[in-house]
Amino acid sequence: GAPVEVDLAPIAEGQIVKVFWRDTLIFIRHRTKEEIEAAENVDVATLIDPQPDDQRVKKGHEQWLIVFGNCTHLGCVPNGHEGPYKGWHCPCHGSVFDTSGRVRVGPAPSNLPVPEYKFMSDTQIVIG
Ligand code: FES
Repeated sequence: GAPVEVDLAPIAEGQIVKVFWRDTLIFIRHRTKEEIEAAENVDVATLIDPQPDDQRVKKGHEQWLIVFGNCTHLGCVPNGHEGPYKGWHCPCHGSVFDTSGRVRVGPAPSNLPVPEYKFMSDTQIVIG
């Protein structure tokens, strides 16, 4: 599939939107200051799939989290702003993800992956 352009300007702080790229669901989350801080202030060594938040977002664009939208367990679509970390909660078998999209409670074995994307401007990205 071709790369897809996404205009970020209409996405309000705190909002999560869903887009499709190559028939695959992607979440674009405009993180609040509190959500960014929660994602950054974690002892990475304690994580199931250890990855610091700064490897999952672009420097200078930390408010934007872009991740694949299917649970890494069996592919259900997790619900945003739910679960103990207010990231996502998977309704199928209870996996919990934080505001960086990292798995915090299984059975999901790994974080929601980050797709290839780049910023064309402060309010525009190209995925793929
Ligand atoms: Fe999400 Fe099983 S598919 S926990």
